[in-house]
Amino acid sequence: MKTFPTDFLWGGAIAANQAEGAYLTDGKGLTTSDVQPNGIFGDVENRTDGHEQIKDVAIDFYHRYPEDISLFNEMGFTCLRTSIAWARIFPKGDEQEPNEAGLAYYDALFDEMAKYNIQPLITLSHYEMPYHLVTEYGGWGNRKVIEFFEHYARTVFERYKDKVKLWLTFNEINMSLHAPLTGVGLPAESSKQAVYQAIHHQLVASARVVKALHEIIPDGKIGNMLLGGLVYPLSAKPDDVLEALKENRSWLFFGDVQCRGAYPGYMKRFFKENNIQLDVTEQDKLDLKNCIDFISFSYYMTGCVTADKEEYEKKRGNILSMIPNPHLQSSEWGWQIDPVGLRTILNMLWDRYQKPLFIVENGLGAKDVINQDGEIIDDYRIEYINDHLVQVREAIEDGVEVMGYTSWGPIDIVSASKAELSKRYGFIYVDRNDQGEGTLERKRKKSFFWYQDVIQSHGASL
Ligand code: BG6
Repeated sequence: MKTFPTDFLWGGAIAANQAEGAYLTDGKGLTTSDVQPNGIFGDVENRTDGHEQIKDVAIDFYHRYPEDISLFNEMGFTCLRTSIAWARIFPKGDEQEPNEAGLAYYDALFDEMAKYNIQPLITLSHYEMPYHLVTEYGGWGNRKVIEFFEHYARTVFERYKDKVKLWLTFNEINMSLHAPLTGVGLPAESSKQAVYQAIHHQLVASARVVKALHEIIPDGKIGNMLLGGLVYPLSAKPDDVLEALKENRSWLFFGDVQCRGAYPGYMKRFFKENNIQLDVTEQDKLDLKNCIDFISFSYYMTGCVTADKEEYEKKRGNILSMIPNPHLQSSEWGWQIDPVGLRTILNMLWDRYQKPLFIVENGLGAKDVINQDGEIIDDYRIEYINDHLVQVREAIEDGVEVMGYTSWGPIDIVSASKAELSKRYGFIYVDRNDQGEGTLERKRKKSFFWYQDVIQSHGASL
């Protein structure tokens, strides 16, 4: 019987802006997420009109966390990934003094998790930053934001050093290329030069907080977070294979800088050929040498690319501009399901970096139906996660060091891409729809009991 290591961390992952709601409670400032009511690819909306958006309440995790954490405990979670909303701690982002009410909220949240021995895995920035930093400073385009972020990180490290030992810097840092406002606080139409400069500032900030973490929490660990966008060549043509290599490097580049402490040669060539001149100081180069302790990533799907421009334009879908793989099935949202790809990416990252890996997001977004008996029979979700976990187990057998697995949205939350509640990932159903109607009541789905068995048996039940 194949099982997972006994110290393997099992749990789920959520993010402040998609779960908490309470968007202006206890002194929180407006964030980039608050001004994008239609999700991370959506337009910016003026929030002074009083019009409520779905994320303002989300699933009200801000107030209901004791019930939710007790349900996570019932499933056997040993780890919960969530994020701190930077604007709860520094409402505008540039203050010297933190907002005590915001700090106290996360104290209470971490204490609740400690009651059940659920280890927090905390993302410093999950798809949001104080909006004031965008309007006043131009977001990550401005070097000053590095200092604001470091001040925020040092503040929360000091405050929670006895409660939180596992940290992540920026969620899906490579998404800044596709959704600049969400990632680096720049307008959607920004030039490549501007986006890569902002990314550079973020990479320096990430490295500086790694240093801060090691100083403040010596027994803690900090990881990066990549969108694991594994890409295959559409054919075995050498040009397609090379194209896939380049496409994979467009996201691996972030990991290369964060794990190896310097820009790789292929990026220098890319910058030269695209006429991108980055302002990189000598101090930046020294800062970048502070490398992360482990690599975390999300994994949902894979896709294909070809070097044939005409074929590419004809076939590409709109999800990260990839061509659908003819050998794979898709979810209702067109995300291609590829469990074997998870084993491949785990091996690939391990071979490349030799650092421990953590799968901090994976799951199936689907429309759930409550049947006549009041049950939610989500066999499709069980199948998806089961098949992916089997591949994680295989990768561990391959010799890959995997720290843990936190499925995305163990309780239904608002989706990031389009701010929908009907796209559900949870083992726990939340009674709220896309119009914001519902009691917010929680309900266990069939997958709740299935995941409970998986955790209890250390994966033997898969
Ligand atoms: C990841 C994000 O990209 O994918 C999450 O880190 C997000 O914030 C998740 O929710 C799933 O995407 P979506 O759009 O289905 O919520």
